[in-house]
Amino acid sequence: MRNFDLVVIGAGPGGYVAAIRAAQLGLSVACVEERATLGGTCLNVGCIPSKALLSSSEHWAEVKHLAAHGITVGEAGFDLAAMMARKDKVVGDLTKGIAHLFKKNGVEWLNGRGTIPAPGQVRVGDETVLAKNILIATGSDPAGLAGVTVDEEVVLTSTGALALPKVPDLLVVIGAGVIGLELGQVWARLGAKVTVVEYLDRILPGADGEIAKTAQRLLQRQGLAFQLGRKVASVTRDGAGATVTVERRDNGAVDTIEADAVLVAIGRRPRTAGLGLEALGVTLDARGFIAVDGQFRTNVPGILAIGDVVPGPMLAHKAEEDGIAAVEALAGHAHAAPDYALVPGVVYTAPEIASLGATEEALKDSATPHVVGRFQFIANGRARAMGATDGLVKVLGCPDTGRILGAHILGRNAGELIQELVLAMTTGATLEQVAASSHAHPGMGEAVKEACLAALGKPLHA
Ligand code: FAD
Ligand code: NAI
Repeated sequence: MRNFDLVVIGAGPGGYVAAIRAAQLGLSVACVEERATLGGTCLNVGCIPSKALLSSSEHWAEVKHLAAHGITVGEAGFDLAAMMARKDKVVGDLTKGIAHLFKKNGVEWLNGRGTIPAPGQVRVGDETVLAKNILIATGSDPAGLAGVTVDEEVVLTSTGALALPKVPDLLVVIGAGVIGLELGQVWARLGAKVTVVEYLDRILPGADGEIAKTAQRLLQRQGLAFQLGRKVASVTRDGAGATVTVERRDNGAVDTIEADAVLVAIGRRPRTAGLGLEALGVTLDARGFIAVDGQFRTNVPGILAIGDVVPGPMLAHKAEEDGIAAVEALAGHAHAAPDYALVPGVVYTAPEIASLGATEEALKDSATPHVVGRFQFIANGRARAMGATDGLVKVLGCPDTGRILGAHILGRNAGELIQELVLAMTTGATLEQVAASSHAHPGMGEAVKEACLAALGKPLHA
């Protein structure tokens, strides 16, 4: 039997990064992946294809606004098949890149479904390999909705919605979370009439309320319709489409929405089935995630778990950080457990929505003293020059120490702009220190500086 120091199950951003780092630390490593390509949900059917389609559809949407820049173009059009082919090429190139990195770092890819017949063993197809340690990085699957059958033709998960062969005239999205907004925007830009049905009375639960409300208004302006506070009672396939029956949560009124396609995007669930965890006695928490300690060890010696399959934000960069921390600890290196409060979340709509740390509501609810600083992009020179004036930067700080408690950015490049504040929060830099550091002019980053100045009560340009 072949013998490895570490066998990783799952080659998503958690698993493949952990495998590479472990090999770099001198461990003999195999990574089991059942897909025909590496990279997991993120590269194959998640982060990357969704961002490719967001980019393509954004270019298309921009064509309509080029006249404002003094540019005239002839009759414009788009070819959906070519757009999809470009997306597939981006995905293909990146997944091949991981295969190359495995070779370069000496990670053995075992292609097939992995199970754990006993501690210290992993079975893949007909082969059983020995493993000093096993790292479960099997990720997550889309959550289902009771009574709704996904067929990936009309009733879709994100995977189906990333590969539609034609633009639906009417798209109903169930769930105003990250996937619902990103993919809803893609198809709305390409011509679908999109209705987003959300159970709660707001979009993006977990995001700062003021930012979410402003984002909703901007998305509505672009044509997305929201039906909030509604429960989906049923989705019935009829012919080439479906009828979605929704019920208002406040008064029980029932309504129906006709759709050519329905995207179910109500969250994701950890993927633990079929690994043999029950027989091994691996403890799951009440929500079905694998319970781990600060070094990502389960209750069964020699079995660890990271990424979407353990608690914490279900994000690719969080999975990567889990993976690095887990294998560094395994190899005997000191490595602090990742602090999930410092993990930024970005919704890649236009405008982008970036969140970090506490929301204003959370600080109010916990009676935490705080100051708030805001700066609207309409007052920022670069934003004006680019025509990207929608949105704002909002920072929340401690009035005594000046430490940053949270930061929320709505606007173009919000996902890049938030990084400065991630570094500030991670290193303990204060509002004063961020405001005192030089920000290139004209840059949207100046809005970050200005928001910090505003929180300190000394705004310059507002
Ligand atoms: P995964 O990426 O899910 O990888 C797990 C892998 O394990 C899979 O390849 C699976 O085939 C394999 N596997 C499972 N069980 C077995 C088994 N028994 N044997 C062998 N192989 C197995 N996050 C972001 O940070 N930014 C984004 O922009 C973003 N966009 C997203 C867009 C969409 C549409 C979706 C669905 C998700 C998005 N995410 C995004 C979330 C991100 O994809 C996940 O958080 C991330 O992929 C989790 O990584 P992971 O390594 O834990 O698991
Ligand atoms: P989500 O948790 O972001 O949003 C789900 C939404 O559905 C919530 O607003 C919730 O209130 C609503 N909902 C739940 N049940 C419902 C019901 N029965 N009817 C109507 N609405 C209902 O989940 P989503 O969008 O599916 O994304 C899954 C995960 O993937 C997220 O955890 C996210 O972190 C990750 N992801 C990250 C992206 C990014 O970082 N840019 C992009 C896409 C996904």
